[in-house]
Amino acid sequence: MAYRVVQWSTGGVGKQALRALVESSDFELVGVYTHRDARVGRDAGEIAALWIETGIRATSDVDALLALRPACVVYTSTGETRPRQAVGEIALILASGANVVSSSMMNLIYPPAAHPRTIETLAEACERGGTTLFTSGIDPGFSGDALPLAALQICARVDVIRVQELADYGTHPDGSWATPYGFGQPEGAAAPILEPGVPTLLWGGMVTMLADILGVELEGREEFCERWYAPETFDVPLGHIEKGTLAAVRFGVAGIVGGARRLIAEHVTRTRPDMALHWPRPPVGTRSVHRVAIEGLPSLTLDLHLGGETRAEDGAEERGGERDGGERDGGERDGGERDGGERDGGERDEGGGAGLVATAMRLVNAIPAVVAAPPGLVTPLELRLGTGRNLLAPRWRSSAPASGPEGPQRSRT
Ligand SMILES: NC(=O)c1ccc[n+]([C@@H]2O[C@H](COP(=O)([O-])OP(=O)(O)OC[C@H]3O[C@@H](n4cnc5c(N)ncnc54)[C@H](OP(=O)(O)O)[C@@H]3O)[C@@H](O)[C@H]2O)c1
Repeated sequence: MAYRVVQWSTGGVGKQALRALVESSDFELVGVYTHRDARVGRDAGEIAALWIETGIRATSDVDALLALRPACVVYTSTGETRPRQAVGEIALILASGANVVSSSMMNLIYPPAAHPRTIETLAEACERGGTTLFTSGIDPGFSGDALPLAALQICARVDVIRVQELADYGTHPDGSWATPYGFGQPEGAAAPILEPGVPTLLWGGMVTMLADILGVELEGREEFCERWYAPETFDVPLGHIEKGTLAAVRFGVAGIVGGARRLIAEHVTRTRPDMALHWPRPPVGTRSVHRVAIEGLPSLTLDLHLGGETRAEDGAEERGGERDGGERDGGERDGGERDGGERDGGERDEGGGAGLVATAMRLVNAIPAVVAAPPGLVTPLELRLGTGRNLLAPRWRSSAPASGPEGPQRSRT
């Protein structure tokens, strides 16, 4: 039987989740939440740019959505800038009896490292509803748990482990992506994501999870941040970078073990690939990578490079001019997905749109495991995640039913 699911928000990640929920026969989309008046009443198929009629119309009526008694809600509303509201909504959903998979509160990636009061609120809601909460994404998320877990399976010894995102944001056409980092701003300008405490809030859980995976006690966690200022003026799709303004950052959180930085969650974010060439870089010919680098025996580098086809329809919504002011819109990021591709010849999606797909699918693919899990806040270390069932594209499936360990495959429509 298909899992009854509500998609909560229709931004960048939400729209990708919506597509999967509409297209997969493993799920029955029963509702869509949007806080945006302009989207209320619109069909999920249209919002997801699938251009099919699903009969499920977006609503801002929370009670009506919860009354649908979904097995799970995919909660992808903005979390970081409205944490109290997001936690309140997630708690309400959990207490109503619906499980939640969410990308929204990055500090909940690893609940044992999160603020105890937040955990208490959510754990109480889980208990009341008999439900489970799973928070994940790609980074923090998959790159900090599944990738290291895979790499560690072939290691005899670890001296240092780094989980890195090495990314070029310059190709992104949404200028608002520059703001959290202060790209294009002079020295001393505000950079919310680099403020002391913020990297730990967002990526500290990943470091604590690594310590628990390795079974070691952290002596502490410390933040680091280096800035690189543009040696010349240039323009990229992200915006105008004046000579002497911020053009790249290297920052993160390091877990201290044995008196040294041994467990490291790190971001190297550039606005042009040739900025700060002495910092770690993605492989030649790529602009972004999620990397696990282990110094040990053997030393190894595991690179995750996201790409893939994009859909021509993705940009249609923005061309239709639906954006309703003020808010950074998921649709525009879809534009990034569209544009991120062949502009520079050869490469298609360079992590913008594919990153949103990967984040959404980490959540959607986890739904069966989360629904089956006991009540409470769960981590990827406890869940039996991702079987791959039904993921082979329908066009590659022959008309003869394919049998696997789980029997004949149902096809996606
Ligand atoms: N861990 C990871 O790897 C990862 C990766 C990507 C994103 N994320 C996180 O996932 C969340 C969603 O990311 P995104 O890229 O989809 O962001 P987004 O494109 O900005 O979409 C967020 C959506 O939240 C809803 N929203 C915005 N302001 C709201 C408000 N004041 N009240 C209620 N709803 C509001 C809107 O949807 P409606 O208009 O439909 O309500 C909006 O489109 C964020 O918290 C982000 O940090 C995590």
